[in-house]
Amino acid sequence: MSSPQLIDVPELAPEPAIAARLSAPAGPARPLLIRHADTSVLALPGRYCVVYIIVAAGNAAIVDVGSAEDVPLVSAGLDYLRVSPSAVAFVLATHLHFDHVMGADVAAQAFDAPLALGRVSRLAVESGSPIHWPRRMGTLRAIPGWVMQGAPTISGSDRARGLRFGFPWSTNRFASRLGPVLDHQQPVPGFDGWTALATPGHSSDSICLHHADARILIAGDSVRNFRGGEWNALLDSAQQYESTKALLRSLPVSVACPGHGPVLAGDGVLSRLATMGFWGTRQATGKTG
Ligand SMILES: [Fe+2]
Repeated sequence: MSSPQLIDVPELAPEPAIAARLSAPAGPARPLLIRHADTSVLALPGRYCVVYIIVAAGNAAIVDVGSAEDVPLVSAGLDYLRVSPSAVAFVLATHLHFDHVMGADVAAQAFDAPLALGRVSRLAVESGSPIHWPRRMGTLRAIPGWVMQGAPTISGSDRARGLRFGFPWSTNRFASRLGPVLDHQQPVPGFDGWTALATPGHSSDSICLHHADARILIAGDSVRNFRGGEWNALLDSAQQYESTKALLRSLPVSVACPGHGPVLAGDGVLSRLATMGFWGTRQATGKTG
């Protein structure tokens, strides 16, 4: 079981937002190719979150397209990977938060691919029920993260087409067709070695994708890296999140792909994540993890 190879891809770096450069100790997200014998993952710094392209056996999955503005970067990423847009099996959202999903419909249509969702996201979409959000004070915790993401404003194209997706009032009616439903601990169809995990806590519908042999975790917002690698302080259910943290810590992971910030690497990387206080400050020793 060898660790994946990590390759910087500076040619795919967008101009990092000044706010992210100044405020996030880990710095802005950077484009990175994670290469393993059986699969590759390309991290692309999107407007509101990191977009990941997973490639396995000639299939590509595009994970978390936060903005319609990210679609050209995804196309450039597919070019870099020498993967045809027709090989895109699906666009996937790790959870229905606007910063991860406003560009998903546009991307699914651009690549003529269906939209794959976790079971809870899919039920919300089919019933037209918005997913539950943290209460008002809880959402204030998003403010430091928004600054460290680079304080992005909602783009014109997202205002035009994205506002129906991922907000507390959104019914998430996608125009694109719906594809596979990803269930807990089930294989991701078409992507040998990849398993979906239901990881509620940050949101009720959060999922992660894990490749045990490659020891890669696509974490969505269950992990973020604004400050060197931390558990998310923005929670819908602290109780569910504790179970999720225990599950994730039990997995073989040497590369963790967070929803925000640079990719985290190293053996046991998830056991070193910090826990943050209300405003994203590092909690005192003894309360971490
Ligand atoms: Fe989120």
